[in-house]
Amino acid sequence: MPNGRSVRRSDAEAQPTLDDLIAVRLSRRDLMRGALATGAAALGAPLLATEEADAAEGFAFAEVEAGVDETHHVAAGYEAEILLRWGDPIFPDAAPLDPRAQDAESQRRQFGYNNDFVGYLPIGGSSEHGLLVVNHEYTNSELMFPGLGPQSRKTSLDVLSREQVAVEIAAHGGSVVEILREGGHWRPVLGSRFNRRITAETPMELTGPAGGHARLRTPEDPAGRRVLGTINNCSGGLTPWGTWLSGEENFHYYFAGTLPEGHREAENARRYGLGQPFYGWGRFHDRFDLAKAPNEPNRFGWVVEIDPFDPNSVPKKRTALGRLKHEGAAGIVAKDGAYVVYLGDDERFEHVYKFVTAGRVDPYHPGANRDLLDAGTLYVARFDADGTGRWLPLVHGTGGLDADAGFDSQADVLIETRRAAAILGATRMDRPEDIEANPRSNRVYVMLTNNGRRQADEVDAANPRPKNAFGHIIEMLPDGEDHAATTFRWEILLRCGPPASGATFSAETSGNGWFGMPDNCAIDGRGRLWVATDGNSRKATGRADGVWAVETEGPRRATCRHFFRVPVGAEMCGPCFTPDDETFFVAVQHPGESDDDAIPASFDRLPTRWPDFRPDMPPRPSVVAITRKGGGAIA
Ligand code: FEO
Ligand code: CA
Ligand code: CA
Ligand code: CA
Repeated sequence: MPNGRSVRRSDAEAQPTLDDLIAVRLSRRDLMRGALATGAAALGAPLLATEEADAAEGFAFAEVEAGVDETHHVAAGYEAEILLRWGDPIFPDAAPLDPRAQDAESQRRQFGYNNDFVGYLPIGGSSEHGLLVVNHEYTNSELMFPGLGPQSRKTSLDVLSREQVAVEIAAHGGSVVEILREGGHWRPVLGSRFNRRITAETPMELTGPAGGHARLRTPEDPAGRRVLGTINNCSGGLTPWGTWLSGEENFHYYFAGTLPEGHREAENARRYGLGQPFYGWGRFHDRFDLAKAPNEPNRFGWVVEIDPFDPNSVPKKRTALGRLKHEGAAGIVAKDGAYVVYLGDDERFEHVYKFVTAGRVDPYHPGANRDLLDAGTLYVARFDADGTGRWLPLVHGTGGLDADAGFDSQADVLIETRRAAAILGATRMDRPEDIEANPRSNRVYVMLTNNGRRQADEVDAANPRPKNAFGHIIEMLPDGEDHAATTFRWEILLRCGPPASGATFSAETSGNGWFGMPDNCAIDGRGRLWVATDGNSRKATGRADGVWAVETEGPRRATCRHFFRVPVGAEMCGPCFTPDDETFFVAVQHPGESDDDAIPASFDRLPTRWPDFRPDMPPRPSVVAITRKGGGAIA
């Protein structure tokens, strides 16, 4: 429960005023950035090799050496400080982490596990004082609890105690933490009235076209409108009206048991991979047992909207944005003021989506945007071989999405978004992860992380590599530079991986500068692309995951440079800049996790104890704040 009473007053001066909050919410400049960006679309081929004058500046930093070891590395001249670690208290009265005696009560008041998305919401426009919102995607019980041994389905499903499962549930979800930079160092403000833990048990509302639908009703919630918690929150986004969008990704891992014989959700369950659980929550909670609550999985796989400035607000699952294995939910304002959210469905052969609101963003009345995401049109992308593409609307009653196909309403279309998208002829992609629109150029970057299952006879122009082990990045440009447009042009910015794999890094890219498996991305204030990876390892690419700066403009296009490297076993998440570009927040997720079946890892046998390196501490997923020594913008 958020702390409102025992606030330590030493932090009182850090409390924002109401005016500060209004300032952040009404930042018209930010709101309209996307709509007003002039861009530099030279509409000739190749699509984006423009040499326009407003092209982003090149990067200037000394590269990190690619490799794998037990700690992190940042470019010379930069400082990387641990800001928040798993188990860190985020309330004044929270217990410090004791890994040999962790309990759910403590975990509910501590920073959660496996930080993925990171968003920074300035207070009063400040780049040194704001709210950090962080997704906690999943838990590594084998690294969190002593004595379990290496991760296996058996351990996860059958061995954990009721209390350990309760810790897992409390370590999922998200955190809101007020943070402050003083004397050059960031710290959490423990007494903040905004600090909040959201867990897999926090009450939430199901809104939009599928809210209240019969297929969302369960024994615990006969109205189909109130669900407990959010799970597997991967990437996300921030809206111009000051809310946080969090994507529920691999929700299928949490449901054990089997559906009753002949149940109407059987095909739906198959399409989303249910029946292969990785968590044993169903042993203690009926709602995670398919036999007892067959509709419960329909209440996950949504984008959750959270108001971090109101710690008592009820998070809303916005069903209008579709039910997928949502990676992120980054958006931009379209020319007519509609809000457009780009969405990836992270699984092999799944699709790229966008949602366009029916209403317009009201920059003057934040409250007017409160339910903007409940009405609009969800589209799925078809990438054509000639470099054009089309957004296909997922609208009940059109394109074959009707009763004959088993869709009786828009709610049915949204609950089974994947099946609807396939009927429309959407392009089957190589695992779409983060998607970000660049407000300066209106170009949209799609991270496609890999797809080892694509066969030679399944390649297409947008997914051209059979057994795509290292992934690629697609660049899209909406026609008329209007994000609400239903047509676009596209090309592949980069095929990733080692040089010998057919990668297309520029010749200027060094041996440290190439990477595989793009996952998260961020655009800095100068419109430059930064890519974070998931899946590099000693075995896969001879290097750890990390952050690479990617040139997208001019003759240096497709030149990449290595900026930050994670410790062994981790993936790189987060990346997020403060508005002045002086702080770069990155999230180190699952440090110490085994990245090679031949080298299992567990609490009792660890490849690293990052970041504490204390003999009594396991590795701890952490958010890191990177700043330039002596001050100034990053790179
Ligand atoms: Fe949670 Fe798609 O990575
Ligand atoms: Ca991801
Ligand atoms: Ca991102
Ligand atoms: Ca990933």
